[in-house]
Amino acid sequence: MQNKTFSGLFVGQNIVSLKRVDSTNDYLKKQVANSKPLPEGTVILAEDQFAGRGQFNNNWVSQPGKNLTFSILLSPTFLPLSQQFSLNIAISLAINDALCSFIGSECKIKWPNDIFFHDQKLGGVLIENIVRGANWKYSIVGIGLNVNQTSFPGSIKNITSTALITKRELVLNDVLTHLCTAIEKRFGQLKNGELVLQREEYTTKLYRLNTLAAFEREGVRFDAEITGVTEAGLLELKTKDGLRCFGLKELKYI
Ligand code: BTN
Repeated sequence: MQNKTFSGLFVGQNIVSLKRVDSTNDYLKKQVANSKPLPEGTVILAEDQFAGRGQFNNNWVSQPGKNLTFSILLSPTFLPLSQQFSLNIAISLAINDALCSFIGSECKIKWPNDIFFHDQKLGGVLIENIVRGANWKYSIVGIGLNVNQTSFPGSIKNITSTALITKRELVLNDVLTHLCTAIEKRFGQLKNGELVLQREEYTTKLYRLNTLAAFEREGVRFDAEITGVTEAGLLELKTKDGLRCFGLKELKYI
């Protein structure tokens, strides 16, 4: 019989700290492509990530030494490919769990996995899956979290950090430890089959849940309320024409 009890500490047991790297996701991807296997849970941490990548080919810019930019190697081979989005859910919940103890109140998850505090972005996640044939081999979970940076150049306004929220600096290592522990716990829940429970919890934490707000699809603006996410990770909106589901690249928040 399969033992479904998850135990053992593995996330963050092996940390590779780099002074400077283009992208921790790319670095980890190259390591995985090499034949020498890295242990699951390995963390690649960069002090200065000079070509960080975000979702939708955006850049992820982070002041060197001030924030957390790291990638974790996970191997969610127990999940079918059709359940890929459940890893996004588990990771978003974990970041939320960990941040709660530092900022003293809950963050929101802006679908699919931006971490928001009120209307400002505190962190982002870029998950890249390595699939061989029909099987999920590895996930590279890249996390960027604004911690001690207090000024953000350029015209981006809706961005914040834990230091701006709490008015105090945090020790980056402490935050990383909390994040690794929380990720291990949430990944364990996933392994134990708690997908539906996690999706329900994720829904309660969605930014703009049950609130009438403006969205845009193919250049057309419309008002709708977020009501949840589907198993496949589509965002479910209550529009004037009824419930509709939208994919990642289809929808813009206004
Ligand atoms: C997003 O919000 O668009 C996702 C941002 C993800 C940034 C992190 S920082 C560490 C890891 N390495 C990268 O190049 N990107 C991710």
